[in-house]
Amino acid sequence: MPDHKDMLAVARDMMGKAYAPYSHFHVGAALRGESGTIYGGCNVENAAYPQGVCAEASAISALIGGGDRRITEVLVMAHGDGLVTPCGGCRQKLREFAADDVQIHIAGPEGHRRSVTLGELLPLSFGPENLKP
Ligand code: THU
Repeated sequence: MPDHKDMLAVARDMMGKAYAPYSHFHVGAALRGESGTIYGGCNVENAAYPQGVCAEASAISALIGGGDRRITEVLVMAHGDGLVTPCGGCRQKLREFAADDVQIHIAGPEGHRRSVTLGELLPLSFGPENLKP
């Protein structure tokens, strides 16, 4: 089984940089692009609560800004006993750039906990192909 070492390191670093003064729930995300580069993101909250950005969305911006267009692997890390899977909005955001079989690794500070595919998290999804005539 892969040890996810590189992605864990990026997500852990990002989790430490999260700006979450309202929820106090720090999240780090790591995305592997088609080029092999790993991009990180953290949640960035806002006093106007709905304007906050999730770690995954922040990492997607880094990936697109870095010149990649496809996501080949995802890792999300947060504290707590529960499995922190991407929220509904982030599942759709990931769907834009990732295929159904892309692995989403869920981690805690101690390491990898479980992996699922994007298709499992967002079945029968709507994506760019649906807009083709
Ligand atoms: N959050 C993420 O960044 N990613 C997730 O997958 C779940 C939730 C953030 C949003 C908010 O800043 C905080 O965690 C609490 O919901």
